Amino acid sequence: MNTTEQNYEDFISTVSHELRTPLTSIRGFSQTMLTSWDKLDDNSKQKFIKIIEEQSNRLIHLVENMLSVTKLQSKNNTLVFNELNIKPPIEQIISIVKNQYPTQVFEFNCRENLPAIFVDKDKFQQIMTNLIENSAKYSSGTNTTKISAGMDNNKVIIKVTNKGINISPDDYDKIFTKFSRIDNPLTRKVQGSGLGLYITKNLTEKMMGEISVNSIPLNDNQNLGEITFTLQFPILSIEEQARIKCSQ
Ligand SMILES: Nc1ncnc2c1ncn2[C@@H]1O[C@H](COP(=O)(O)OP(=O)(O)OP(=O)(O)O)[C@@H](O)[C@H]1O
Ligand SMILES: [Mg+2]
Repeated sequence: MNTTEQNYEDFISTVSHELRTPLTSIRGFSQTMLTSWDKLDDNSKQKFIKIIEEQSNRLIHLVENMLSVTKLQSKNNTLVFNELNIKPPIEQIISIVKNQYPTQVFEFNCRENLPAIFVDKDKFQQIMTNLIENSAKYSSGTNTTKISAGMDNNKVIIKVTNKGINISPDDYDKIFTKFSRIDNPLTRKVQGSGLGLYITKNLTEKMMGEISVNSIPLNDNQNLGEITFTLQFPILSIEEQARIKCSQ
């Protein structure tokens, strides 16, 4: 078996496992309700239906992420590059994530007159949604996500920071690979397929950007750290933008 076939087999086997877990749970709770409807009180029925809803959402999220992965690998997946002023889309994403995580506090600091970057708007939104959702999902210690957008060396720099379970430098590369999650009590408590950062890194690099992570252990608690994801996008001249448009 060659490497491509092996990768494909590994992918199918991981996906099947990821699909099986929520499906088994949906089937189990539906069967229990069908066979024991009269014996169950309203509270239990409501609890079971809630689990079925959550597991269905998990399946939808997984399938959407897998479609994104497939599109990343497809050759005719063209990006639509345009100048983008990043402040309004980031503000919009914060308000959407705030709706899902009402107890999370978001602080957004954006430099005045930040130059536009040259990206695909939808993909940029997907990147920011993944990072901001993660920071709300994996926050512990304090429920604050800090987002900043500034400039350095002809690049726009975006940072997303939260306190959560410290990520060891050995895991910095790993979290950007397919289906990788760091095994800790917090990750086990929240749902995820481990595809978000893989997609985020790939999309960022397709748009000439870079992404990195840094986690600083907090003095008072060995397990917790301040985790920062940093994105960098080059600020391009009109000529450079024209060259990209022409090469598409
Ligand atoms: N902001 C963060 N703070 C702490 N840990 C994080 C943060 N973002 C990611 N991680 C860790 O990196 C892992 C990979 O993240 P990624 O977004 O790729 O997957 P996921 O959130 O588990 O699932 P998905 O995004 O596909 O729903 C997470 O499971 C978590 O362990
Ligand atoms: Mg994620």
